[in-house]
Amino acid sequence: MSLLSVRDAAQVYTTRRGLFGGRVDVRAVDGVSFDVAPGQTLGIVGESGCGKSTTGRLALGLERPSEGSVTFDGQAMPAPGTADWRAMRAKMQLVFQDPLGAMDRRLTIARQIEEPLEIHGIGDKAERAARVAALLVDVGLRADHGLRHPHELSGGQRQRAVLARALATNPSLLVCDEPVSALDVSIQAQVVNMLTDLQAARGIAMVFISHDLKVVRQVSHQVAVMYLGRIVEQGDPDALFADPAHPYTRALVSAIPVPGPRRLERIVLAGDPPNPADRPTGCAFHPRCPVAIARCRTDTPALRHSPCGRMVACHLVDTETRIAA
Ligand SMILES: Nc1ncnc2c1ncn2[C@@H]1O[C@H](COP(=O)(O)OP(=O)(O)OP(=O)(O)O)[C@@H](O)[C@H]1O
Ligand SMILES: [Mg+2]
Repeated sequence: MSLLSVRDAAQVYTTRRGLFGGRVDVRAVDGVSFDVAPGQTLGIVGESGCGKSTTGRLALGLERPSEGSVTFDGQAMPAPGTADWRAMRAKMQLVFQDPLGAMDRRLTIARQIEEPLEIHGIGDKAERAARVAALLVDVGLRADHGLRHPHELSGGQRQRAVLARALATNPSLLVCDEPVSALDVSIQAQVVNMLTDLQAARGIAMVFISHDLKVVRQVSHQVAVMYLGRIVEQGDPDALFADPAHPYTRALVSAIPVPGPRRLERIVLAGDPPNPADRPTGCAFHPRCPVAIARCRTDTPALRHSPCGRMVACHLVDTETRIAA
């Protein structure tokens, strides 16, 4: 049973090209489908601008998709701002990169963790205080951290506090958008471990967005690789990282720094970085693809089951070309 179900979701933004340029439609997300089951994590990776955050906002119902649908717990996502939407929002929370930006600098940590409880009318004053105290412990903070203001905490402590606030309403889904990217590498692992421990204990589903493929591999049950608004490969993280099937995934994985001899030759992608305002025809990756054939310029490959056991959107996935690449 899936908790979150995204079907053929597309998000189109209208922007201006340059200062005096005409309007141009940008398909930030261009037909994405995925499911997340209770307690499971879907990792989303891909270069800057490929539509990860937009996909996260669609999953949370913060924006309505221009096309396609999002259902949560079997229900269509209500329109943003309505009472139904607010009620549903208690069950899903966003955790993002900049904990200081996500917090009110004037309020104590305890106040900020209590706020969502108040907004959703959960408990009386004493019950809320007890819940805040328990949440501080859950995320590895002390009671006295609750009395401090955001700038009085370290980056790691702040991200823990943000997490405590996100967990306050007992959500069944967390969308984490680069949740540890701003932290020191040594602290990232601690926060990630704490997050996955809490997730397992509470059976929370997650969408985990990150540039960091190693972290994504560690936390995810499923990984989706995005390129220009589409998922190009999706499946089991260990298999995907050990034997990437899509040429784009191969390039990403080949760039992960690993100690010792490399298994994959580093693939440096040629061509311009992807720009959704100027999407190539056919397979959007074809101008940078080392193995593209004529068909890739004209036909858009669908994401489909491939013999490798994953979903892959590539015309060459079952051919010798991929193996030679
Ligand atoms: N509100 C908006 N209005 C116009 N364009 C937008 C808007 N939000 C995102 N975009 C564009 O949509 C594309 C996808 O953006 P998105 O933020 O989802 O990418 P991302 O994968 O999260 O990137 P990053 O890794 O840099 O966070 C980008 O080209 C971006 O400029
Ligand atoms: Mg983003």
